[in-house]
Amino acid sequence: MAPIEPVIAPPPPPSTDVFRNDIFKNKVLFCTGGGSGICKSMTEAIMRHGASATIVGRKLDRLEATAKELSTATGQRCITAQADVRSPEQLKAAVAKTVETFGKIDFVICGAAGNFLAPISGLSENAFRTVIEIDTLGTFNTVKATLSHIRQSRGSYIHVSALLHHQGTPYQAHVSAAKAGVDALSAVIAVEEGPRGVRSNVISPGPIGDTEGMNRLAATDPSIRIADHIPLGRYGDKRDVANMAVFLFSDAANWVTGQVMVRPTYSLCR
Ligand code: HXC
Repeated sequence: MAPIEPVIAPPPPPSTDVFRNDIFKNKVLFCTGGGSGICKSMTEAIMRHGASATIVGRKLDRLEATAKELSTATGQRCITAQADVRSPEQLKAAVAKTVETFGKIDFVICGAAGNFLAPISGLSENAFRTVIEIDTLGTFNTVKATLSHIRQSRGSYIHVSALLHHQGTPYQAHVSAAKAGVDALSAVIAVEEGPRGVRSNVISPGPIGDTEGMNRLAATDPSIRIADHIPLGRYGDKRDVANMAVFLFSDAANWVTGQVMVRPTYSLCR
């Protein structure tokens, strides 16, 4: 079959062009991993629609710089909480700071993640455990620390996962196992907490341009042209993921729970 000419599509519009600006007025977001990358973009988009936010991470300098940038860009308050998601105590303190400042939590993004490339033969037990502890246990710890507040607000969770475990992905045994656990946790939260009005969904970004995942971890072999295998002919943009987060937290998604939102169909047969 002749290869289809890849289409260079223009970047998507920012979510503010699609959703009303005030849909998250008086709402409060708690986002782990919000200091950079995709989680920072999701936080910005949600703040652009009126929410205040706490961004949580290990590196205070980076968090402070991001909070300042997001507040300036959106006109909303963004505070920081230094915490390692492997520490339930640090997360509880981050939640307490958020509730003291804003009075409640409506939305949680469990986004903190660790990753490096290593074949299973080269993974130490500690290396495997480290990623499981950041991604899977960290998600569990974040849910435990926030659940009473999310029940009170009848709020919503978004968990950031991956597509690695939907097939065998080389050098990603640790992250594949960890993210499969994240998907499972979200599904359980959806069914257990649904009757209380709490929703839980997963965003599994595919190849998103200009991210640490793509820049540092994706295949660098120039003969592998991932974009050629994506029907829309381009990598995702961080704003594509941000738009999905805005939709999932919005009232438009009030009957959406227990779902895994994945990247557009990826075809190796083109
Ligand atoms: C093999 C490695 C390793 C590597 C670390 N380890 N890097 N093993 N290859 N490249 C091992 C260490 O030797 C150690 O095991 C154990 O892992 C813990 O490492 P530490 O550095 O002590 O842990 P810590 O300081 O807690 O840091 C954990 C980390 C973190 C996961 C390495 O630094 C990190 O997360 N960095 C990158 C974050 C990141 O990239 N986030 C974006 C993810 S994007 P031993 O046995 O020696 O004690 C994403 C989307 C997927 O995930 C995209 C796919 C394309």
